[in-house]
Amino acid sequence: MPGDPTRTQREPFGLLPGALGEAERQVGGDEAPPLAPNAALAWIGKPVPRINGRAKVTGAARYTVDVKLPGMLHGRLLRSPHPHARLAALDLAPAAKHPGVRAALALDEAVGRAVEAPGAGGRRVLYVGDVVAAVAAATPEAAEAALRLIRADYQPLPFVVEIEKARRADAPVVFERPVHGEGYAGAIASGAPIAQQGNVRGPNTAGSRGDAGAGLARAEVVVEGEFRTQVQTHCCMETHAVVADWRADGLTVYLSTQYTAGVRAELAQAFGLPLSRVRVVVDAMGGGFGSKSGAGNYVRAAVRLSREARAPVRIALDRREEHLDSGNRPATVQKLRVGAGRDGALTAIAIDTYGTAGVGLGAGVGFFAQGLYACDNFSIAQSDVFINAGPGCAMRAPGNVPGAFALEQAIDELAERLGLDPLALRDRIDPSPVRLAERRAGAERFGWGRRRAPGADAGPVKRGLGMAQSFWTANVNTQASCEVRILRDGSVELFSGVQDIGSGIGTVLAQVLAEETGLRPEDIAIHIGDTNFPAGPPSYGSLTTASITPPARNAAWRAMRELKRAVAPALGVPPEQLVARGGRIATADGTRSLSFREAAGRIRGDRISALAARSDDYGGFGRRFGEMGQAKEPLGGVQFAEVAVDVETGIVRVERVVAAQDCGRPMNPKQIESQVHGGVLMGLSYALYENRVVDRRTGHVLNADLEHYKIARAREAPAIEVILLEHYRAASATDAYGIAEPANIATAPAIANAVYNATGARVRQLPMTPATVLAALGRAPAARPSA
Ligand code: MOS
Repeated sequence: MPGDPTRTQREPFGLLPGALGEAERQVGGDEAPPLAPNAALAWIGKPVPRINGRAKVTGAARYTVDVKLPGMLHGRLLRSPHPHARLAALDLAPAAKHPGVRAALALDEAVGRAVEAPGAGGRRVLYVGDVVAAVAAATPEAAEAALRLIRADYQPLPFVVEIEKARRADAPVVFERPVHGEGYAGAIASGAPIAQQGNVRGPNTAGSRGDAGAGLARAEVVVEGEFRTQVQTHCCMETHAVVADWRADGLTVYLSTQYTAGVRAELAQAFGLPLSRVRVVVDAMGGGFGSKSGAGNYVRAAVRLSREARAPVRIALDRREEHLDSGNRPATVQKLRVGAGRDGALTAIAIDTYGTAGVGLGAGVGFFAQGLYACDNFSIAQSDVFINAGPGCAMRAPGNVPGAFALEQAIDELAERLGLDPLALRDRIDPSPVRLAERRAGAERFGWGRRRAPGADAGPVKRGLGMAQSFWTANVNTQASCEVRILRDGSVELFSGVQDIGSGIGTVLAQVLAEETGLRPEDIAIHIGDTNFPAGPPSYGSLTTASITPPARNAAWRAMRELKRAVAPALGVPPEQLVARGGRIATADGTRSLSFREAAGRIRGDRISALAARSDDYGGFGRRFGEMGQAKEPLGGVQFAEVAVDVETGIVRVERVVAAQDCGRPMNPKQIESQVHGGVLMGLSYALYENRVVDRRTGHVLNADLEHYKIARAREAPAIEVILLEHYRAASATDAYGIAEPANIATAPAIANAVYNATGARVRQLPMTPATVLAALGRAPAARPSA
């Protein structure tokens, strides 16, 4: 009841397939009542087609590059051709005089990279692609011509682009001064100052616990290995793009972004504007994967150009710029030791790792090994190694993806050393009942019983089966909010700043409102991706659905409560006894009813409006920091891979992947399966193909396009089968959690374990190219990742 501070309610609780019970929860007085399990619902949990699917496949959808404003100019960025140089002089005048050019400016803000303490001598460029200047002109051709007229005088400096060379005491130094910052989720925040020596910043030992040395000493079996992972770039289908429109009454930025509210706050601060004078808008979006989380250097450049030129300015990065300077997944070198008793119980996990995010921070291995298995003794030491290459940034399950490649192979090896099936070992050391259910369901569907001893095939093409697990925190943005309106004509609309990164949150919101109003998803107008609406959550950390669906349901429920109050007198029963279904508001026995439209016609004024913000999870969060809460229980995920390895050519073909995944209450299985397919394909692509190659002699990226930077295509796609568990946690008004990152973690190690099962050779280096596989088989020298 409104006004009640809290009430007690019984919520669905448990795992399906399997046991479903109820849990008692204290909830706020303005929370919607318990939501039945999916099987009893009309729209939530149903494979509703995405609301903008038709627009996307017909080309009608409006992406940021489709935004064309009157008088819009075209911006281009001048980028350094040197991996390291002092910028001795920069003369923009010849460019500014070029016909059609309306603004030219120097760029010197460090955005997206590690921030160096003041005192370093003069302006330097730190990598090929580092931004130096920007121009805006009436046409793209004029902007391009003007770039070539800028006179930039570079004094080349020694540089380093190889991680091993960068670690040496005599290596050229990337940063002359100490840098600060924690990076992103790739490394756990240390809280303490981190040492920096030459190009090596670290080690950061945050997250260690117990005594790993003692645990290893008393282990009966120790598995050791060094694992190397490469730099992967995000390769979003839609490149980074912005249209900035600076006017006297405020700034509007059309931007392909993962966080409208965050970019608004960033730009307001950077340009000294109140939030009320900054608007960020995004409609359709072609992915982000972490690389579109903030206002990058190109966004700030577009805003400054627009301010100077007094006209809207568009900047769209091309594929080369995407590879050079829009973020990447850092490379890692992980030395791993896992100790266990004969029974399989882990006595220690010790990880010594360094990696490179170029001129960025955060090349750690995340929190994967901290939380996956029961182990009291855990040590981790992580260092960032700087090289003269574009900064890394968060990328789909940052840290955990390279971390899983190492740990899950070590666990596979441990199982073999102990004479245990990999599933049986995990049954002993994995405390998660959800992953247990996923191992069971996945093994059955996959046919794990077919698995043979390593290298069992006699011929040159050898088949093998492998599996691996994932771990990801169930995150919530606590600031997410939305407004639901019921208009007098019976139409219903939702407003939120939340953006659809491409995974379909708008469709899920339409389902939630359809469920509450008794209308159909297509009856609901979804207005999202605009900071003129209540602030939405970011689309990162796999937290969008978990963050925005509970306030959407609560706002819809409050609006319906008001509608029912408005029509109760006409229907002759108290409002609590009215139900909304099939487009009508009816008494419980169905004898009296009004159509939704008739009911809405009784609204006083033109609308009912209800605003709701994300409340805390019922029972609180396990951990909370800033605007983030983490559910007490993390997300799981188990994947099984079947491969064929040609030991004469070294070519690995992944034939089939079975992915068992949980995400709390699944809201739309069609879209979730689509996300899991994407996660598996991205993981496969990482495992076998993707690798940014930097030339050690010139510092240039040699494959800064999609011709030479290979990503998996349909031809390499395996059969993918998704098993979706329903995990009712009784934690919020929708009980939904994320799926994007968990689905990307287990694929590469599952494939690597399958390659081992096929061949008896362990591949500890990514990508598993023919050269790498042949080297592991003892048939050819190893290729090294370029960074
Ligand atoms: Mo993601 S790397 O949290 O977009």
